[in-house]
Amino acid sequence: MLFLVALAGCGKPVAGGAAPSPAAPNAAAVPSASTVPVPAAPGTECRAAPRATLDAAKASLAQAYAKQFQIGVAINGSVYEQRDPGAAALVAAQFNRVTPENELKWQSLEKQPGVLDFSEADACVAYAEQHGMEIHGHTLVWHHQVPKWVFQNDAGEPATREQLLQRLDQHMAALAKHYGNRLKYWDVVNEAFNDDGSLRDTPWRKIIGDDYLDQVFLLASKHFPEAKLVYNDFNLEKPAKRDAVVKLVRGFQARGVRIDGIGSQSHFQLEVPTLQAIDDALSAFAGAGMEVLISELDVDVLPPAYKNQGADLSLNAELSAQLNPYAECLPGDVAARAAQRWADIFAVFSRHAEHLHSVTLWGVSDRYSWLNNWPVKGRTNYALLFDRELRPKQAWQRVLEAAAR
Ligand code: XIL
Repeated sequence: MLFLVALAGCGKPVAGGAAPSPAAPNAAAVPSASTVPVPAAPGTECRAAPRATLDAAKASLAQAYAKQFQIGVAINGSVYEQRDPGAAALVAAQFNRVTPENELKWQSLEKQPGVLDFSEADACVAYAEQHGMEIHGHTLVWHHQVPKWVFQNDAGEPATREQLLQRLDQHMAALAKHYGNRLKYWDVVNEAFNDDGSLRDTPWRKIIGDDYLDQVFLLASKHFPEAKLVYNDFNLEKPAKRDAVVKLVRGFQARGVRIDGIGSQSHFQLEVPTLQAIDDALSAFAGAGMEVLISELDVDVLPPAYKNQGADLSLNAELSAQLNPYAECLPGDVAARAAQRWADIFAVFSRHAEHLHSVTLWGVSDRYSWLNNWPVKGRTNYALLFDRELRPKQAWQRVLEAAAR
């Protein structure tokens, strides 16, 4: 205890944002030295938190779920360029498919018109292939991470429908030529709907028109005849949005436009969405004849900065101590709630294993989670199954144990 108190009092900022001091104006809000939770390592679970007792070197998520669905992970250069060899080894051992986190987005491939740079995407694909992992292409059409020039003509004015469709045709042709059929799945369109089920007013829609989803999927089926074509979005547990996606699928089917799967991003929080809503969405997509993919799973444990936060990349709230309460470490009770949440979510997934192709986590360790920087830059989140030191969390063990049930 003495040791804990000594550590806690060593002058590091606490969750309240200031070192404990009797003179501090917000002293009442600052935990006293003896109640400051002590991390085992910064940004990991506090010492008193429950830990995994199984050894991650001896048990693998991919193996545990092999009979149900594949287990994927989004990776960045820390993994495929081996900048973090421990993370690279963990990915190879625990997962059997990967999604390049940013490397296949238009902005990463073609910042300037006609200047294609596949170097990072190639390194990512090579890493996956060396480890026999399935590769999920993310993403062909999105309104984020696309250079402005894509939507403009040479004079900097808005492109015409024909120009934009031709540009997309060329973009897909370049990808198809470069990768052949090495990428088995493609997110063809990402995030086309608002939460109320209306079509999002993106530059793609504005320029091409309301039939743009048909046009984009038709182009994708021309260029990627052997890949599975996926529509991907977040908040698909909201009935209005879920039903809009089912309607899209039914419309495609009626008009002979190929679509093979629905990717549910699944950026979840501790309480939201409900397990029932997750279950209902999976049933709805399977009922429409779709393969279902959980495409970007994580569990945000921090206070939401926005009501109905979703996963809209354009949100950006200011950092505050209130929004970043576990800057030092994650208290045991929150870690236990997160572990239970992960187990519950996987129990729902298991019930849908027949139609569920894969469950992909949006990052290997808390260190690399996008939720440290969205929708607030610089927070300490604990949204994944391995901690910042790459140690398995209790949540990892609960997910493993849920597979056996
Ligand atoms: C995120 C990446 O994880 C970040 O590294 C990047 O800065 C922004 O994009 N929905 C998506 C993903 O479909 O592409 C986003 O990925 C997270 C939300």
